[in-house]
Amino acid sequence: MFKTIATFFLLYLVTLTLYGQEWGRSGFNSQWKFYLGDEPEAKAAGFNDKGWRNIDLPHDWSIEGTFSKEHPATNQGGALPGGIAWYRKTFQLADTIEGKQVYIDFDGIYRNSEVWINGHYLGKRPSGYTSFRYDLTPYMNIGKQSNVIAVRVDNSQQPNSRWYSGSGIYRNVWLITKNKIAIDHWGLFITSPSIQKEQATIRQQTVFKNLGSKREAAEVTIRVFDKESKLVVKKAFEQSLIPGDSEASYEIQVPQPILWSPENPYCYRVETQVYIGKRLVDQHSSPFGIRSFSFDEKEGFSLNGQRKRILGVCMHHDLGALGAAINRKAMERQLVLLKEMGANAIRISHNPPAPEFLDLCDSIGFLVMDEAFDMWRKKKNKFDYSLDFDEWHRQDLTDLIKRDRNHPSIIMWSIGNEIREQFDSTGTALTKELVAIVRSEDNTRPVVAALTETHLEKNFIAQANALDILGFNYKYEQYDSLPINFPGQKFIASETTSALATRGHYDLGHDTLRFWPPSAKEKFVKNGNADFTVSAYDQVAAYWGTSHEQAWRAVKQRDFMTGLFVWTGFDYLGEPVPYDFPARSSYYGIIDLAGFPKDVYYMYQSEWTDQPVLHLLPHWNWHSGQTIDVWAYYNQADEVELFLNGRSLGTRKKQGDDIHVSWKVPFQRGELKAVSRKNGKEVLSKEIKTASKPARIQLTVDKNKLRAGINDLAFVSATIVDADGNTAPMADDEIVFDIRGRGFIAGVDNGFQADLSPLKGNRKRAYNGKCLAIIQAKTATGEIILKASAKGLEGAELKLEVNDE
Ligand code: GAL
Repeated sequence: MFKTIATFFLLYLVTLTLYGQEWGRSGFNSQWKFYLGDEPEAKAAGFNDKGWRNIDLPHDWSIEGTFSKEHPATNQGGALPGGIAWYRKTFQLADTIEGKQVYIDFDGIYRNSEVWINGHYLGKRPSGYTSFRYDLTPYMNIGKQSNVIAVRVDNSQQPNSRWYSGSGIYRNVWLITKNKIAIDHWGLFITSPSIQKEQATIRQQTVFKNLGSKREAAEVTIRVFDKESKLVVKKAFEQSLIPGDSEASYEIQVPQPILWSPENPYCYRVETQVYIGKRLVDQHSSPFGIRSFSFDEKEGFSLNGQRKRILGVCMHHDLGALGAAINRKAMERQLVLLKEMGANAIRISHNPPAPEFLDLCDSIGFLVMDEAFDMWRKKKNKFDYSLDFDEWHRQDLTDLIKRDRNHPSIIMWSIGNEIREQFDSTGTALTKELVAIVRSEDNTRPVVAALTETHLEKNFIAQANALDILGFNYKYEQYDSLPINFPGQKFIASETTSALATRGHYDLGHDTLRFWPPSAKEKFVKNGNADFTVSAYDQVAAYWGTSHEQAWRAVKQRDFMTGLFVWTGFDYLGEPVPYDFPARSSYYGIIDLAGFPKDVYYMYQSEWTDQPVLHLLPHWNWHSGQTIDVWAYYNQADEVELFLNGRSLGTRKKQGDDIHVSWKVPFQRGELKAVSRKNGKEVLSKEIKTASKPARIQLTVDKNKLRAGINDLAFVSATIVDADGNTAPMADDEIVFDIRGRGFIAGVDNGFQADLSPLKGNRKRAYNGKCLAIIQAKTATGEIILKASAKGLEGAELKLEVNDE
């Protein structure tokens, strides 16, 4: 536990210092007005929005709604409302802005956004995941007269997504002030073309903008700082800047480079300054990692010259009870949990992420597959991006690459997931076009697509012969035929598994894998559980998938399979296979929607880390006469012995390619205990006791100091325990949270996929003994007191501190 907290704290410090910065950029998230509904007049500067709701961004209005079968997104989209809404912000620009350029940056708006300033139309962006900038300069008022930005967001045409999208300005917004001479938007591309032990060459391609009418002589200074902010190297370059755009490429040598890797995510900071005479006119600071990697058709993947398996998970973008509204701390929590599980890679499925997510991958240490599209021209849903693809794909793909290409974490670009065009000849030309777009912005990383068709003659994307690596989703039984069907190619298991589970729920007596739904003929499982649960023994999967163990084994046994991305790291809102409504969030996660690990988390930890693991399942509250399958995941040991009330039930060893050991145990109340041993010496022991009646609530929190004013979060787990402190594994009491002081409850959740009570609010039923309250610090410092109570149980209280350190 101490180690966990220490790692977390370290990572927290690291991420704080690594925040990439653009000069003249300031947050533009506070004091917006919001109206849910259409109000065409609201684009006008003089429109009266006094009656509108005050909000701060990032904001997702869908998560504030109630779950219902009637919403057109359907439960595949999370059973939450879409609609049309408006945002407005009134602001002033000081006189000092005279002569400068002013821009607004939106990191992402879901979807079909249109933006006006002072009544002037700036443009639209259909994609809900793209980041974009508008130039406000020609229309802005300087001095006393105020300015109004109006944003219309249209997420009314649904379904447009196969998962929960969220609605609104759900990512950060920035105001950028620049001089007339500046580094262009996304105008830096930093690479390391040569890496030797003694030194690495850093190349920085730079685009400048000179909006003046004459050529200027500039000096460009590039300084590289190490992780402790110590200057490593500095170089200055003369640069002539013609009116309009100028491009230049600079090289600088870093001595004794420390290489970036998931184990040591060492980032330098490259700071670029542009001087005209003595005047500093622009500056840009970018975290940067030095690393090299390669894919080999036989040997697999190597990073910095060392072979490494890509151990990844796929992730959608929602943050559970927070919806799609991004929060750095919530993303960090997800990534830290995955890191501690042993994952070293993330596939961002199936769309561009928030920029902060990539910053975190850089600093926590993940290899990333950054993915552009879930569909091209051929739709997967009636109103999805296929309608915008022709007009927007070039721009959206270019923007993604330009925005993200300086992240050391990114090791490949994916141009699409399970794209329908792989089945017909239009796929070939489109693949060539998209790959060319990627390469024109970045030729240092491989381009991949996540495919399903395993025969070359039927796979028109692979036939383009343009991809560097072929990603295959599922179909592990066919892995050995891939090198035969696609000779000379490199492969990655871009998506695997799709096993299903509800945390803490166990169906007894199933020794074989069940497929829910069983085949393409059935959309939902017919003989599933009446309460919409799925057993958490790793024994249920969608028919196109398989168990976690089987999928991992298939990759582990094949060197040419460079790695895998398990579907999915976390449960997400939407796509609740195998059930229809009221199920509304997915069952695929290794970790549930509230962030509580399911048992299989420890399977990965035992396989993917060297830290000693011993995990025992299920709980020990059954009825006499029942025979219980007891499983243990373990590593760093030769065997595990199981005891029931002190009596040995035998020792088990993993044989061959086993990933767990198991016993069949006639139930008897008391204590179940497992002991793992190496060379006869105990490594770890784990006990589970039969819990008696639920007696009280126990609160634990990931940290008790929060920072004011940065949307900092504390994650409070409420566990219902008996009088002796044993978790009551089936308790479902409703817990009411009462909060006082400098914080508020940003969301509540219990991780159960078919719970229809709101995720925003101050109460939640525990599910299988647990629920979560997410506490957000306000802007003022002071104290937070959180009380948790439930009828018939002893309550609990927690004190948190909000400071400005
Ligand atoms: C895949 C798809 C994912 C998700 C998954 C569920 O085929 O790429 O987006 O839908 O199935 O099993």
